[in-house]
Amino acid sequence: MEKIIVNGGNRLNGEICISGMKNSALPIIFSCILVKGDCIINNVPKVSDVFNALEILSSMGAVAEFCGKNTVLINTDRIDDTISAKHLVSTMRASSYLMGAMLSRFGKVKMPMPGGCNFGARPIDLHLKGFEALGAKCFCDGENVEIFSSKKLKCNKITLDKISVGATINMVLASACLNGTTVISNCAKEPHVDDLIAFLNCCGAKIARNGTTVVCQGVKALYGKEYTVFPDMIEALTYICAVGICKGEILLKRVVPYQLSYPTEVFKEMGFEITACGDTVTVRADEIFGCDVVTAPYPLFPTDLHPQFAALLCFSRGGGCIREEIFPTRFAYVNELRKMGASISRLRNMVYIKEAQLTGASLDATDLRAGASLVLAALGAAGESEINNVNYIVRGYESIVEKIADIGGKIKLIKGD
Ligand code: EPZ
Repeated sequence: MEKIIVNGGNRLNGEICISGMKNSALPIIFSCILVKGDCIINNVPKVSDVFNALEILSSMGAVAEFCGKNTVLINTDRIDDTISAKHLVSTMRASSYLMGAMLSRFGKVKMPMPGGCNFGARPIDLHLKGFEALGAKCFCDGENVEIFSSKKLKCNKITLDKISVGATINMVLASACLNGTTVISNCAKEPHVDDLIAFLNCCGAKIARNGTTVVCQGVKALYGKEYTVFPDMIEALTYICAVGICKGEILLKRVVPYQLSYPTEVFKEMGFEITACGDTVTVRADEIFGCDVVTAPYPLFPTDLHPQFAALLCFSRGGGCIREEIFPTRFAYVNELRKMGASISRLRNMVYIKEAQLTGASLDATDLRAGASLVLAALGAAGESEINNVNYIVRGYESIVEKIADIGGKIKLIKGD
């Protein structure tokens, strides 16, 4: 099995080029099911979730492949409604986007339940309720999900009961080519939702956002274009945590500073020096002071930064606490940090952390962001750490070992036997 070996204690100095956003690239890739002709998507990260998404489309008869370093070519003109690579559907949450795209194109979809990082329940009730509001019938037995519409779907006014990135994306996919105007209220505002909307509009869709309301004026057809995916805001924020832990100065290239606004203010309160210039951000950190945060939908503190921020608090004066309001059980990283001597305790959806001297240990990644948290903690710990289940980490961080090594981290990937 592959593992990551880290020897902690080195300051970080240098430049990191931020990759394209996994959580944008995935809905954009699946949305090509709605599009005629060639779609050329640039700035797509080479991570396992993307390869799996391309393989799912290929298994349906699409051309779906990397045609350049980070550019994919997708053409779904000849696909049918059978997903042969069913085994891949349940490996990732992004497979849920097949529901909206296939319902729109074929009027039906039958597939295994989508997967997702294993930090508790990942329901799809909001998605199904939205499809039903458009006239579809949904059947889900926990293993498989089947959705069909005996007659054409009909536009409607939909209000999502809860802010949900995935459900927002699926309502956009289901209504982009739906005759009439569909109004979706209580939508997520994450940049990856707007990235998808921008791609679909580039292909001829008529989708507009007004705050948390998205209005889709259905069009007859969408035609393939070239598009470039936003940079990954969570990747950028992860490396800012790394500098806070290891001290030093790094330049992040190819970022969108406004997407990082809220967490950046938190970091500055903690003692980071962060300056943005165009699509670059310089980050300096020496003595860092802890603070308390609550996770919430964009533009507030992202749940996908929670585990990495917990690692940072272990190395921050006074420590702090994190209240997790999106996924109240994403705490599997806590026991792993404890193996390193972290002073961390959980009470319901809160985690309380005191500054401590961590020492290297043998650790197991349990999900994508928990895995990133362990890499960060190992970079600040004394001695050597080995991190197993690297598959969780490489599913969402392109070239993480190379990028950290390039800025002075003592880190290497040991290939499995
Ligand atoms: C997306 O997951 C991301 N995944 C997650 O990133 C991210 O943590 C999450 O959005 C929130 O930002 C991808 O983009 C592939 P939600 P998603 O629907 O769409 C509840 C990562 O690390 N809910 O916004 O599944 C849900 O349980 C991953 O990159 C329902 O109750 O998240 C949660 O409490 C991890 N019913 C809340 O809504 C539903 O039908 C928000 O979930 C759907 C969601």
